[in-house]
Amino acid sequence: MKPKIMVLNGPNLNLLGVRQPHIYGHDTLADIERRLQARARTHGFVIDMRQSNHEGELVTWIQEARTTCAGIIINPAAYTHTSVAILDALLACDLPIIELHLTNPHKREEFRHRSFVTLAAKGVIAGFGAGGYELALDAMAKLVADASPGAPRAKTGTKKRRAP
Ligand code: DQA
Repeated sequence: MKPKIMVLNGPNLNLLGVRQPHIYGHDTLADIERRLQARARTHGFVIDMRQSNHEGELVTWIQEARTTCAGIIINPAAYTHTSVAILDALLACDLPIIELHLTNPHKREEFRHRSFVTLAAKGVIAGFGAGGYELALDAMAKLVADASPGAPRAKTGTKKRRAP
């Protein structure tokens, strides 16, 4: 069975494409998901991408991922800076977790500089816009492969070079 990766998106990310496009870009979440699904196929992953404006719903989904997924990529949006509940849910998961942001919060207002979620994350991808989702998935592929060393790696479509 292909490993499933949960990709969670927090509040207001349903408005991507129309929400402050000078900051968050013109791609919608559906555009991002389409590209991510294609990238997931090259890694041999199944993607379960969800968005919620509700903290409790995100907590419930993290708990679900705990037993059904091989990893979690999460853009907690504003909850990044406030949510101990999301942090605690992530800490309860024995899975690779990647924190993701479209923007680089450290270049923005001071209240965005603190992330609770970071305490549970293996790493953070921030500031690369919509393309950050694919970068996060590439990083996740390495983390999942490292977590199961015997498993065969997915073909990425690159041709092997012959030795001269
Ligand atoms: C965000 C950054 C957060 O500070 C903000 O509240 C968001 C989006 C990002 O992707 O850059 O909603 O997580």
